[in-house]
Amino acid sequence: MSIHIGAKPGDIAETVLLPGDPLRAKYVAETFLDDAVCYNQVRGMLGYTGTWKGKRVSVQGTGMGIPSHLIYVHELLADYGVKRVIRVGSCGSLQPDINLNDIVIAMSASTDSNVNRLRFGGADFAPCADYQLFSRACAVAQEKAIPFRAGNILSTDVFYGDDPDGWKLWARFGVLAVEMETNGLYTEAARAGAQALCILTVSDSLVTHANLSSEERELTFGSMMEIALELAR
Ligand code: HPA
Repeated sequence: MSIHIGAKPGDIAETVLLPGDPLRAKYVAETFLDDAVCYNQVRGMLGYTGTWKGKRVSVQGTGMGIPSHLIYVHELLADYGVKRVIRVGSCGSLQPDINLNDIVIAMSASTDSNVNRLRFGGADFAPCADYQLFSRACAVAQEKAIPFRAGNILSTDVFYGDDPDGWKLWARFGVLAVEMETNGLYTEAARAGAQALCILTVSDSLVTHANLSSEERELTFGSMMEIALELAR
């Protein structure tokens, strides 16, 4: 086992889906996977391995924010031979034409976090999605007639910020949506030579202040999972 994941070598598949919420990991395992087995309960950050259409796939909760997310992604890549990490999460829309329930596929992830500047001695790394995963995800969405937007997103360190208009600068530069993990995910995968992608469902809008109830979130979660699971095949 590694420090935060209580799995044995071989317990975790080469492709891992990464929801922030550990109970979402349980829900995905129970709803979409066959023969799912729980391999991690350390800190309640549940992780499962099962099969989807005959292909082995794992799903691991990561918690919220880049520091928590990085702990799990680092251990998956460094200690369990994981090759493909796919975040499935929620985001806030920063654009008037991106609505609740829409799907956003992150080509790149900007950030207000200092984590990468710590890593790169004050310089800025530009984290981007793995092109193969990204182009396949777009193709799957098109085949299934699932509408989506693709582009730059913002991974923020601050959910409850003090400046209510702080997001508008990012929006003016075309950033589609805000969440809290992907800048770390894409960087850590690059370091390990692994493939990474982030697929998001819009759960709230900073433009209109609308938001989804947790029941409503479940409904659109399915489209995001359909795309993500196809990438494991
Ligand atoms: N801000 C940050 N992270 C988020 C949001 C948001 O509005 N919505 C979903 N994740």
